Amino acid sequence: MKVLEVKDYHEMSSIAARIIIGKVQSKPDAKLGLATGGTPIGLYKELIQDYRSNGTSYESVCTYNLDEYVGMDPEDPNSYRYFMEENLFAHINVPESQIHIPDGTAVELEAECERYDLELNRGEGVDIQILGIGSNGHIGFNEPGTSFSSHTHIVKLAETTRKANARFFRRLEDVPTQAITMGIASILKAKQILLLVSGINKAEVMKQLLTTDEVDEQLPASALKNHPNVTILADEEALSLVKNADLKT
Ligand code: PGA
Repeated sequence: MKVLEVKDYHEMSSIAARIIIGKVQSKPDAKLGLATGGTPIGLYKELIQDYRSNGTSYESVCTYNLDEYVGMDPEDPNSYRYFMEENLFAHINVPESQIHIPDGTAVELEAECERYDLELNRGEGVDIQILGIGSNGHIGFNEPGTSFSSHTHIVKLAETTRKANARFFRRLEDVPTQAITMGIASILKAKQILLLVSGINKAEVMKQLLTTDEVDEQLPASALKNHPNVTILADEEALSLVKNADLKT
């Protein structure tokens, strides 16, 4: 894993945007793996800005999101489908038919997991996967203890995750208890992975991830150590408990 320390959220977002834009320019039909949450919003703002000023085209791009809440209608403002529409898709020219997000309202959830994996595995793999990290080390909604050989699957959300995400809801009770998520093995199939990390709330998990060689299912993000092309773009606050001398990547 390559760790790139950046000053702050703004710098993290603009460097990530440059990487994504560079990929889309060199490969107009790139497959982009996208994430939700507070972390990638700045990146998406930069992509929109660039689309407006420079016209980078997403006409041939395909997007694949990591996860969706179970039972959440795509029209619900708390759904990840809605989040992506608001924060990115409505503002760039990616065709609707090239957008992929798991369907949290599917009646047959297992069949939906299989369908999503088939979509992901069609043709070449994802070119760049954007990831955030939970303070418990989750990537996507793969909570601690998830098998590293997992493909798209249904998860019960950790209480810490529900509490962290409650800020997007009216009340904690409104936060769903289950989600459908790409598994660790599905994520690791991407050719390149960009993990974005910002803020003091992530300092402890970055210390856990970066100061040992251990690859352990209790720390889902440690699976990234098995991937040949991972860049961590983390800001000063997120790396504040890691000294350069301690880095084990
Ligand atoms: P955040 O979430 O970007 O809102 O911090 C990251 C995650 O839980 O994966």
